[in-house]
Amino acid sequence: MAMNLRDYFQLRCSEMLIAERDILKMNQLMTQEVQHSRLKEMFQRHADPTKQQIENLERVVDRLGGPIGPSENPVTQGMMRAHQMFMETNPPQNLIDIHNALEGDKVEHLELVSYQGLIALAQQLGEQELVQLLQENRTGEDQMRSRLESDLPSLLSELGGHGRMAA
Ligand SMILES: [Fe+2]
Repeated sequence: MAMNLRDYFQLRCSEMLIAERDILKMNQLMTQEVQHSRLKEMFQRHADPTKQQIENLERVVDRLGGPIGPSENPVTQGMMRAHQMFMETNPPQNLIDIHNALEGDKVEHLELVSYQGLIALAQQLGEQELVQLLQENRTGEDQMRSRLESDLPSLLSELGGHGRMAA
């Protein structure tokens, strides 16, 4: 039987649940890696909202009949692999901090646009309760994105100086 819009929505929510679980692991790893105290705190503060987002998505997926599709998400797996490859170049600490801030911001954008799509699908399917849960997640990502981005210029000047990288 061909996949319909509801099945497609179920598949995309299942993928997003796996992605959020990977992102929580990345958040925990990046929190440990960074040394800059304000950045470390930003990462730490995003762990609990991420756990709540996973719970919200579990509710969404349950409501749709449980997870379907692949058990791994190649997008977040690839991001974790890219991160590992960067760390294998043995970068100096200030570049690890800068890299994690930029990657953190990139992940928030990916999550934001993913939730936007899921919200549009939930609206189309008339799933108002699921729209609410997904909107809650979207808001959490937007808060982290705006915290990171408004602090980025100061972070870069504190961590990078004027092009002279500490050894
Ligand atoms: Fe996030």
